[in-house]
Amino acid sequence: MKYNNCICIDAGTPNCPCPLAETGDCLVCSRLNGRDKCDCSWCGLCIYNEFMQNDRRSAGRRERFEAPVLSRRWYSSDLMTIKIKVDRGFTLAGAGPGSFVFLSGSAEPFFDTPVSIMRTDTKEGTMTFAVKMISAKTKAIAQAEDKVYIRGVYRNGLLGEGLRQDAKGAPLQDEKFSAFSPRWLFITKGVGFAPAVNIIDRLPEEVSADMVIDTEKITEEMISDSLSRCEAAREGRVKMDIMPLSRLLDRQDIEAGKCIREIEEYEKVFILASDHYIHTLSAELNVPAGKLVYANNFHMCCGEGVCGACCHVDENGNVSKMCKCRRRKDL
Ligand code: SF4
Ligand code: FES
Repeated sequence: MKYNNCICIDAGTPNCPCPLAETGDCLVCSRLNGRDKCDCSWCGLCIYNEFMQNDRRSAGRRERFEAPVLSRRWYSSDLMTIKIKVDRGFTLAGAGPGSFVFLSGSAEPFFDTPVSIMRTDTKEGTMTFAVKMISAKTKAIAQAEDKVYIRGVYRNGLLGEGLRQDAKGAPLQDEKFSAFSPRWLFITKGVGFAPAVNIIDRLPEEVSADMVIDTEKITEEMISDSLSRCEAAREGRVKMDIMPLSRLLDRQDIEAGKCIREIEEYEKVFILASDHYIHTLSAELNVPAGKLVYANNFHMCCGEGVCGACCHVDENGNVSKMCKCRRRKDL
């Protein structure tokens, strides 16, 4: 078994070097994963040097802390949005596409569960999440009265070559499209809608978005509520169709121009749904790899590359820790 040397999502950030450097398991630096020479392809600040300068300790650990609950809104008996108070720096970190945190309604850390950030308000210092009650962990969040426990921010909720980010975490546009008022396509199912809102909330002003939303597990009220707070939607730059995603696999709707345009007309295509739909829709719609952004559906537990819950083994037996690695090999 061999760990893949994929570029680590945390490399060069305030959370690097992480605990993997202390255990000799860094995903990028050869010196910090047991070899005696430098042969990494990382071209940012030297991770080994940072680690040595920090007395061989990891930096910027994400501590778990209590956050006051400001409000909850129930959309059905098992679906709610929850708004919590955090500091401004934390909201800024959470504004990047694909950001998520570990949230818990219990003081016991084993109730921590990964939840995508749906909205951040940097002025008022708040974060909003959509939570679907499924089992013990999400029920505990629903039952927590005045505070929740939070750990983060983690960055790897989205994968794919279509997601290129600048230093502030904003998706960059492809230069060849920039003169043509680019369009982005969002295909979401269930709470995959939440990370789409986080991006649409900061949609660059020249970009328009088409959304195909499958409401299974969420409600139309939650969709209209969430989008009505996004400037891009208020300006009419967001068009949406609500339909089961299975209908997208039937090309008749597309060819009749009923829901989405031809894929060539989109600069980016986000598929925020289960792996089944990521595979079938990206293949059926012929989405080029360079445009595709998709949900990271791997099971997350520690988020730090330590526990192994998120490991993905490719056909050659190589393992990627998908809480840290930026791409999987089979898409
Ligand atoms: S695994 Fe990533 S975050 Fe941790 S030390 Fe290596 S590059 Fe930095
Ligand atoms: S979630 Fe623990 S190693 Fe990735």
